[in-house]
Amino acid sequence: MSPSLSEFRKPFEAAGQGHVFRHAEAQDAAAQARLAQQLAGIDLKLLKRLVDEMKQDRPVTALELDRVEPAPFLALPVGPGGRRREKRAAQAGIEALTAGKVAAMVVAGGQGSRLGFEGPKGCFPIGPVSGCSLFEWHFQKVVASRRRFGAAIPMLVLTSPANHTQTIEFLRANRWFGMPEQDVIVFPQGMLPAVDFDGRLLLEAPDALFRSPDGHGGALLALAREGVLDELTRRGIENIFYFQVDNPLVKVLDATFLGHHRLAESEMSSKMVLKRDPKEKVGVFARAGRRIGIVEYSDLPENLAQAVEPDGAVRFGAGNIAIHVIDVAFARRVNEGGLRLPYHRAKKVIPCLGADGVLTRPTAPNGVKFETFVFDALPLAKRALVVETSRAEEFSPVKNAEGEDSAATARRDLLNLFRSWLSEAGFAAGDGAVLEIAPSFALDREEFAHKVAVERVLCDGTLWVK
Ligand code: UD1
Repeated sequence: MSPSLSEFRKPFEAAGQGHVFRHAEAQDAAAQARLAQQLAGIDLKLLKRLVDEMKQDRPVTALELDRVEPAPFLALPVGPGGRRREKRAAQAGIEALTAGKVAAMVVAGGQGSRLGFEGPKGCFPIGPVSGCSLFEWHFQKVVASRRRFGAAIPMLVLTSPANHTQTIEFLRANRWFGMPEQDVIVFPQGMLPAVDFDGRLLLEAPDALFRSPDGHGGALLALAREGVLDELTRRGIENIFYFQVDNPLVKVLDATFLGHHRLAESEMSSKMVLKRDPKEKVGVFARAGRRIGIVEYSDLPENLAQAVEPDGAVRFGAGNIAIHVIDVAFARRVNEGGLRLPYHRAKKVIPCLGADGVLTRPTAPNGVKFETFVFDALPLAKRALVVETSRAEEFSPVKNAEGEDSAATARRDLLNLFRSWLSEAGFAAGDGAVLEIAPSFALDREEFAHKVAVERVLCDGTLWVK
């Protein structure tokens, strides 16, 4: 039976949130039921904690900022020793992939507001020639890996209630991009309410609170709540290869990275690249004592962001590219007794109902949204490993409509990558040529070189040249 609105009056009034009923009283029963449904999902104890923290206005970081130092990381391999290290790691990763112990997971619950794209960001067209979507690009990599390793690797897709149905419809209409439907697990993260600066809940309609996705830390919560961890355990999966939907260069299911993670007996591992410049909007890897973590760019004090080493290198220069391996057992542990991640705050302009019931869009920030970050789980890991990778090979996110980190720069970087594959295989793409090597044709430069030189295949439709 659905809850009735009157059930909530006492506890919400006691919590100083009685105003949420103000406009619902004049509404019909269906509208009241909708609001009741939303109130049922509000954890008043958590809300009180978040509001208290907001009023104290202390910075929210998983590591204490007054004692952070740069985090150690496994640097790019050099020389024969480095190559041997990489080979050993690749072997360990291949064994895990072949044994079916790994799942891929893309987080795609964000709102993509900076990109200004209507609809799920995964539907954004990225293929430089084919125009295929970010989702298709990532799915092709999983499908190709399944073929390569002969394993039923599942693909997990994190959505939010705001784009869940649209995402499923898109994937279904595209026949799951060649994945068997039962191996695609689409699950929504949670939502959290926003509050004004006095800590009062905001309404976006008489029957609706203003709520937004609970951050990708909500992925860890949702993995447990939606029964995904149980399903993964049932399938014998030990590691989740986690990445963001906005980075088309990601080497999905990279065996070497997985191998490093497994050989180091790490519970959560991350890839990093050196920051382009001190101002680049990426989180940075840091440590406080023995704990490794990430300080988000918006939380990094200016003096730390600008600090340089004697050799001129940026001191906190290890940038987060949001590629992680997370152990299923670790994801379970961080959920025990409630998810233990800090809640970050962002001041936002939030359209909401005024006391007169009229919806207004303020011109300045009028409220606070709360989010957890998946990487705040790193300090909870018994062992966390950070591995350096090359930016040109692996990181070019689509964040903005234009300029840096836009679709144009991501396509440019894909193109440069494919040009380098081509030239290594003995081809030269003419100046101005636009090309695309479909992940279904070759997942990496080695596979591309092999197909071209040994198998002598350049299939029509898979190597696109225009
Ligand atoms: C993020 C990282 C930053 C990193 C950078 C690399 C955070 C807080 N910061 O920054 O440290 O250097 O990427 O590109 O993540 N998402 C959800 N649910 C949410 C919020 C986000 O699924 O509630 C997903 C988005 O769909 C997207 C990804 O998480 O795939 C990143 O979110 P975004 O808000 O774009 O983070 P950035 O500020 O770019």
